[in-house]
Amino acid sequence: MAKFKKIGVLTSGGDAPGMNAAIRAVTRAAIYNGIKVVGVMQGYAGLINGEFRDLKVTDVSDIIQKGGTILKTARCMEFKTKEGRQKAYENAKKEGLEALVVIGGDGTFTGARLLSEEHPDFPVVGLPGTIDNDLFGTDYTIGYDTALNTVVDAVDKIRDTAASHNRLFVVEVMGRDAGFIALRSGIAVGAEAILIPEVRTPYAELKSYLQNNSKRKRLNNLIIVAEGAEGMKEGGVFKLAERVNQDYPELDIRVSVLGHMQRGGAPSAFDRVLASQLGEGAVIALMDDQQSIMVGIQNSKITHVPFNQAIKNKKSVNLDLLKLAEILSI
Ligand code: F6P
Repeated sequence: MAKFKKIGVLTSGGDAPGMNAAIRAVTRAAIYNGIKVVGVMQGYAGLINGEFRDLKVTDVSDIIQKGGTILKTARCMEFKTKEGRQKAYENAKKEGLEALVVIGGDGTFTGARLLSEEHPDFPVVGLPGTIDNDLFGTDYTIGYDTALNTVVDAVDKIRDTAASHNRLFVVEVMGRDAGFIALRSGIAVGAEAILIPEVRTPYAELKSYLQNNSKRKRLNNLIIVAEGAEGMKEGGVFKLAERVNQDYPELDIRVSVLGHMQRGGAPSAFDRVLASQLGEGAVIALMDDQQSIMVGIQNSKITHVPFNQAIKNKKSVNLDLLKLAEILSI
């Protein structure tokens, strides 16, 4: 069993609610095991530029309930180069870091895997932190549950005004490459149609939803669209609404793009607990000589998934849920 004196922790990529809870858990679980912790600021950029801050027990007090990340985050281009990673490694060593915990999504893990490969004497483990829930090898990512609840809260409000005006709302939610947020939130708000990147939904199919008389006689309709759904790159959700409007001029259509509000806010209880479990799991994994792995959760059990697998494999959306949404929106 490895005995570390000092480890680093950083957050990278898009922030996600619950990252602070994960930082707290890593810090306290490490200190509990006699290991000092250093926070690396601004993700990998902080490693390259030598931006560090010591994290003691009280430095992570009062953050479990906060959105964002106290360590800040960034998408760092320099870390994509071998020279950048070499600089990061040297700075980490100079700071006395013997291992690193990275919290982020697939971009974060891609960098971590390369760093690990080039410097096998510097173990790195990752925690899945992204609202997209698109990491293979874990049922849930930190931040997904909160983002879902944020979407549901916002769309419920939209439903109120949609119903008052008898309008059709097309709501765009996040998910550049994955439809997890759209699919689950769509079911939770009772959407009439859900468009996700994983499934080609030809426009004709969407039209057939709208042609369904019972739907058109409803007081209001909601279509939930993931930002990466088919056709979104060619004009986005506004273009889609325009097209629907041309075909159904009698419909009163409005568009709402929820955007970055989905990444903010206090983490849900689920995300706080998940982040706490995974944070401790990362420290234990390092002490157990693990490296180049993501610590995830599957069927309520902590799992270790090699970065390679977490990055290369595509996590599938549950298509039964899409069918369910269709059945329930008759
Ligand atoms: O990966 C998380 C995510 O929120 C995606 O859903 C979204 O497409 C992207 O980040 C937006 O990134 P940025 O904040 O860099 O615009």
